[in-house]
Amino acid sequence: MGFRFPRVVGHRGASADAPENTLAAFRLAAEQGAGAIELDAKLSADGVPVVIHDDTLDRTTNGHGDVRAHAFAVLDRIDAGSWFDRCFAGEKLPTLEATLKLCQALGLELNIEIKPCPGRVVETAEKVVADIRRFWPTNRPAPLLSCFDPDGLAAARAADSALPRGFLVNDLDDAAIKTAQRLDCVALHVRHVALDRTGVAAIKEASLVPVAWTVNQPARAVELVAWGVASIISDRPDAIRKALG
Ligand code: G3P
Ligand code: MG
Repeated sequence: MGFRFPRVVGHRGASADAPENTLAAFRLAAEQGAGAIELDAKLSADGVPVVIHDDTLDRTTNGHGDVRAHAFAVLDRIDAGSWFDRCFAGEKLPTLEATLKLCQALGLELNIEIKPCPGRVVETAEKVVADIRRFWPTNRPAPLLSCFDPDGLAAARAADSALPRGFLVNDLDDAAIKTAQRLDCVALHVRHVALDRTGVAAIKEASLVPVAWTVNQPARAVELVAWGVASIISDRPDAIRKALG
């Protein structure tokens, strides 16, 4: 049977309405009808997988400096909600472990983007896979791993070849499709502005599942799905779900 992933995926959670990459944003994505969330995973100084997009803490937390320079005990005290709105004060920077457990409780699937800090790609992929093996039940659809760096996907495959992988690209060309195939990926995750009807057909022709990010306009989501895009990653899962019916 071919690989299947939910149609509507909350990008960093429901990140238009809650602070990105927090448990609050993941809960809201579930409430808004997303079938899955996308999140960004990287490592603390002492190797704990945590969920944050940027290499630095400054934009989305009350901390400062490089994520990789801080031990988990320090990251665990950081506020990742106040920058978005005072009502999210006290929202923590989540661990991947806490995120996996929450998604399990909510019945959400996950797309874990391996988002290493510079120089830590293999280690990040290995630790993400280790957390999945430890904290995700084998009787549920396995998390979909994605990465812009082919080395991250190769490391994930070496750690557990059974976990599904998607290659992340900004632009669609033959090389992107060939790299995804070489890495035994099930999906190609393309920046949506790089997609047209022909491109989506080429991805499907290569037996890859087309995934589009980050699509926040409902009409664009409808168009992409009509072309054959399987999953829409959006900051606004509510609006996209309503548009797609
Ligand atoms: O996984 C899709 C998307 O999240 C990739 O870009 O920068 O939002 O992590 P970015
Ligand atoms: Mg991402």
